Amino acid sequence: MSNPASPPAVDVLDERPGLTFPPGFLWGAATAAYQIEGAAAEDGRAPSIWDTFSHTEGRVVAGHTGDVACDHYHRLGEDVALMAELGLKSYRFSVSWSRVQPAGSGAVNPQGLDFYRRLVDELLANGIEPWLTLYHWDLPQPLEDAGGWPARDTAARFADYTTVMADALGDRVRYWTTLNEPWCSAFLGYGSGVHAPGRTNGADAVRAGHHLMLGHGLAVQALRAARPTAEVGVTVNLYPVDPASDTPADRDAARRIDGLANRFFLDPLLRGSYPEDLVADLSTVTDFDHVRDGDLATISTPLDLVGVNYYSRHVVAAPVEGVPADPAPSCWPGSEDVRFVSRGVPVTDMGWEIDAPGLTETLRRVHGYTELPLYVTENGSAFVDSVVDGQVDDVDRLAYFDAHLRAAHEAIDAGVPLRGYFAWSLMDNFEWAWGYTKRFGMIHVDYDSQVRTPKSSAKWYASVIRRNGLAA
Ligand code: NOJ
Repeated sequence: MSNPASPPAVDVLDERPGLTFPPGFLWGAATAAYQIEGAAAEDGRAPSIWDTFSHTEGRVVAGHTGDVACDHYHRLGEDVALMAELGLKSYRFSVSWSRVQPAGSGAVNPQGLDFYRRLVDELLANGIEPWLTLYHWDLPQPLEDAGGWPARDTAARFADYTTVMADALGDRVRYWTTLNEPWCSAFLGYGSGVHAPGRTNGADAVRAGHHLMLGHGLAVQALRAARPTAEVGVTVNLYPVDPASDTPADRDAARRIDGLANRFFLDPLLRGSYPEDLVADLSTVTDFDHVRDGDLATISTPLDLVGVNYYSRHVVAAPVEGVPADPAPSCWPGSEDVRFVSRGVPVTDMGWEIDAPGLTETLRRVHGYTELPLYVTENGSAFVDSVVDGQVDDVDRLAYFDAHLRAAHEAIDAGVPLRGYFAWSLMDNFEWAWGYTKRFGMIHVDYDSQVRTPKSSAKWYASVIRRNGLAA
């Protein structure tokens, strides 16, 4: 970054008051292994479900894959230097399980571990706290071949892999999160099939969700056993779900989607039970015979923190009588006929409605479940960016961050113990089924040359971190 002290070339924020965050607030940025690393077949790494999926025709826009991505595997030093210029206090990254344990179980690949050791050491040398996510969607392919997350055994394999990581990096990584967004792994991966492994079976999606949480609980226990001082948590993606109107039918639609999107995970993880109404809603899909005695106690193993990923709000309405539900595979098993309504408010390049107050609402809701410290482990937006004279003036992204940081501050004012915020994303990257067509980064990546260009939002974020808040 040429001059992080210079103000962004935008004046959209002029009229807003200044805000200061609590001392020690953990300012960070996040990425994930498959989205940035590349080096897909190097140094002993074997395929994950995302390698298989992205190499299957028709699965990812324009046939994009993570084979090279941002080539971060070979540019670790340069990328950590950019983080240091930004002034990041913490960097949230994920480990590619397939790099560390190529078969998903058994033999450990020392070269894979070495990469993460080098990354962590480089971060620490730059005064940046590493925040390690164990699973960001890239299941080793051999485990999918053995049944994937719908199979119970995958949870045990995840715990074994966690022990490998805790033994290797537990002496230098303080913050650990087990899963990233288990809703996506379960319901996009096994329900609608728009994510890897691309299976489309509602019962499998529900089973996958359960086994992901079981794996989480076992992993928490494995981490505690190996590293009693680690700060351990999980990251869930949450949405406020509003009814489109006040009719009982619309309110019921909102209850159903809220059950699948939010309470499916929050209740087992933080209360040790599945919501009764959700189990009833899913009765046409599964009888939950995959849940064994003791599972919910394992799933609700006490945590040290909860990570919240927030992007948008859902507004839903009841099915229209006489109009059959869309027969396409769905990520809302048992509630396929609920309609998602657009409010006509501004959207990001993903088509997601921009709704900053939803972040305050979401954080307050999670605080209603638990006194634990909360972290926004992801928040950000995709917009179409262009490099003009070597600059990317991403006014919309900057305004999105500003509005959501104000919303986060409001949650703190309301008593939520919010301890940190991670922007998604440090740099443009492989946006899953959208490939490289959606840019979420504060740093622009030219995928031909691999040149990194900090955008206006990066310079602005650096100033936010420096003053621990927002300028007037
Ligand atoms: C959530 C996911 O964790 C991340 O991988 C993804 O790129 C962002 N949301 C944006 O969709």
